[in-house]
Amino acid sequence: MDAFHYEGGHLFCEKTAIADLARTYGTPLYVYSQSSILETLRALQTAFAEVDPLICYSVKANSNLGLLKLMAEHGSGFDVVSGGELERVVRAGGLASRSVFAGVGKTDLEIADGIRAGVLMFNVESEEELQAIGRVAAGLGRVAPIALRVNPDVDPRTHRYISTGKKESKFGMDVERALRAATEAASIPSIRMIGVHMHIGSQITSTEPYAGAVAKGVELIAQLRKLGHPIEWYNMGGGYGISYRGNEARPVEEFAQVIVPGIKAAGCRLAIEPGRVIAGNAGILVSRVIYTKQSGEKRFLIQDAAMNDLIRPALYESYHRIWPVESNVPLGQEAGLQSWDVVGPVCESGDFLAKDRELPRISPGELLAVFSAGAYGMVMASNYNTRPRAAEVLVDGANARLVRRRETVDDLLRPELDVFV
Ligand code: LLP
Repeated sequence: MDAFHYEGGHLFCEKTAIADLARTYGTPLYVYSQSSILETLRALQTAFAEVDPLICYSVKANSNLGLLKLMAEHGSGFDVVSGGELERVVRAGGLASRSVFAGVGKTDLEIADGIRAGVLMFNVESEEELQAIGRVAAGLGRVAPIALRVNPDVDPRTHRYISTGKKESKFGMDVERALRAATEAASIPSIRMIGVHMHIGSQITSTEPYAGAVAKGVELIAQLRKLGHPIEWYNMGGGYGISYRGNEARPVEEFAQVIVPGIKAAGCRLAIEPGRVIAGNAGILVSRVIYTKQSGEKRFLIQDAAMNDLIRPALYESYHRIWPVESNVPLGQEAGLQSWDVVGPVCESGDFLAKDRELPRISPGELLAVFSAGAYGMVMASNYNTRPRAAEVLVDGANARLVRRRETVDDLLRPELDVFV
């Protein structure tokens, strides 16, 4: 069952009415479904079971402590890209020893924190970073476990801003450079190369790019072992797409089908770093209509969620389904709809959640649901226009728990007031 569904014209998350949550916690409000998160986590664990997978949930997709705690309790590891994300994992009760540390620009301080915390491995993105990790580890009298991030030069056929596995992207190293780095690493005693890492992009809706990428890694792993590196892990990154419009996504089992044979051929344990597929469709953003207005032929629905709450439409022109929280018109039904631009109160023409969107009749004061907002929603929110960030609620059946309170203007001003003269 879809965690978000209509019953008698009311939108529910599991067994909780969204309108009740909006009344209790206000809007804009992010609402997440616990069962949806756990179902996907289980589906991934099952789909890849043959290669003993370590699921490293990609914290960047949704880093709320309540969600991280839930995932840690259900056996998830984590993919972090900053000292801040590592701190979140640890505070939520996650294990550093089940976490990988990625990112193109790790600082010495972050590297040292990662080593001290005992991360499973660093995903190394450049030769300079390799040296930095070697130096920092030696300074601490430790041996740092690493995986080389390799750029397999495949086209993931996704939005150019979230495509990472092509030669011209800033991520990883091409195969030749990776081999040079591996030769160099063999003479750095404070480094132990135990894995190969790839992440080719995000919101990928076909399995083909993975098939091409995984094969390239198998060859590379053989060469790395010849150089004396004990490669145990093959980390295939994240990127599994979700359905924003209808059913454009492929089930995770299909990705597993093309990835698992390569991992077996490489004789490795699999790590994966899924983010969006776990959190994306497990969350919605709830807003309230403030005004409607017409300008020429255009109709605008001005509601209280803005680009600072959900920037994906402005940044990637991405599509999110939107529908009234209370509606007798079934979601997606086309008859009798009006066309609206759904916009927020921020002073920018780019502040929209949808353009020319067909919606049932709706009036000021009514609630809207913006679907598929659980990943790269709240984490990319800002305080632009001095707008406090939304509250977040985690639903488990008929129970709802606030996992982040709404910010206040005082929260926003505090760092300035602290030094105000
Ligand atoms: N691993 C690495 C190294 C990554 O860079 C990413 C995402 C992931 C894993 C998780 O990918 P996922 O499974 O979520 O596709 N803000 C953009 C998405 C940026 C993705 C960045 N990297 C958006 O809203 O679409």
